[in-house]
Amino acid sequence: MSILVTGGAGYIGSHMVLALLEKRFEVVVLDNLSNGSAVSLERVAELTGRDATFIEGDIRDRELLDALFQRHAISDVLHFAGLKAVGESVEQPLRYFDNNVGGAVTLCQAMQSAGVRRLVFSSSATVYGEAEVVPYHEGLPLGVPTNPYGRSKLMVEEMLRDLGRADCRWSIALLRYFNPAGAHPSGRIGEDPQGIPNNLVPFITQVAVGRREALSVFGNDYPTPDGTGVRDYIHVMDLVEGHLAAMQAIAERPGISVWNLGTGRGYSVLDMVHAFEKAAGCTIPCHVGPRRSGDLAQYWADATKAERELGWRARRGLEAMMADAWRWQVSNPAGYAS
Ligand code: NAD
Ligand code: UFG
Repeated sequence: MSILVTGGAGYIGSHMVLALLEKRFEVVVLDNLSNGSAVSLERVAELTGRDATFIEGDIRDRELLDALFQRHAISDVLHFAGLKAVGESVEQPLRYFDNNVGGAVTLCQAMQSAGVRRLVFSSSATVYGEAEVVPYHEGLPLGVPTNPYGRSKLMVEEMLRDLGRADCRWSIALLRYFNPAGAHPSGRIGEDPQGIPNNLVPFITQVAVGRREALSVFGNDYPTPDGTGVRDYIHVMDLVEGHLAAMQAIAERPGISVWNLGTGRGYSVLDMVHAFEKAAGCTIPCHVGPRRSGDLAQYWADATKAERELGWRARRGLEAMMADAWRWQVSNPAGYAS
């Protein structure tokens, strides 16, 4: 049996493929390369000494999916494929709903007709909306995300819950990521955003290699210890290990399961800058700019449910996250195009 990884040529997906191959799983990757790179999979092969089967194609292509499920005996689907740029989603909502929601519908239809009913979905802490209690725990009511990207994640969660209610043969994990960061410790695979990075850590690493002049800190007047936004940054290798644990758990757990994947600790923007400067031995030029619209002051995960039910918790700290992010960026200053 094989594991299908949609979006497996992207940032988190490529680290997932590596972890699966290391655990001796057979892996099929489906990715349309809209934001991923086939080079990442070549590097994964070089690191693991094993190959995933790569299919370049789109999760919205029903014929392709039917052929894929016919050709490969798939036991589980890890569904990472999606568009994720918040600002872009505000400008192009239809593209986001088509890709993220339409894509998930087509994928589930193809799974259903192939009799594959184990799915792990990449959700996000964005589904908590603007909840005022921190830390966020899975029992909180779903919130109102502030942008179309967030709403697409919420809609897919709702659709999957309905699917699980309608047919108890489905086993579905909704994994709510907090802020993934870092890279594989080899420095061979990592995050390679196209254009100007939206996220904090790739922006910092690109400043450090001279691709950007300075970091703009989006507001320093939040009600947080140093005035800058606080988030729960989780090492990408911890995150993928959380998926392995969830995949194993839902094999014996029909229905819908929801787990936060975070560390349970928050760090401010300035904490992150200082941790990076320490890891990389350089100074990051920063200036304080206005708040970014839609940003919340602070949130982090209550990560105890995953620990209790999956026996998983994040093991890597900020130091490793920053050292690994830096190793990847400095050895690949232009990402996979280096
Ligand atoms: P990424 O953009 O690096 O990876 C997504 C991959 O999916 C890319 O390789 C892209 O080419 C592929 N893809 C997109 N649409 C596709 C389609 N229609 N058909 C086939 N392939 C398609 O993003 P990532 O950071 O690795 O995120 C993976 C998942 O995790 C996404 O669903 C994202 O929304 C979710 N997530 C990410 C974060 C984060 O901060 N990185 C946080 C919460 C949730
Ligand atoms: N920040 C800056 N300057 C930058 C980039 C970010 O100061 O150039 C700050 C933000 O204001 C925020 C923190 O750094 O306080 C983290 O911002 P990110 O953009 O890295 O991450 P977000 O928390 O905004 O969003 C992330 C994912 C979303 C996901 C959300 C839910 O990018 O996909 O987490 O947890 F929906």
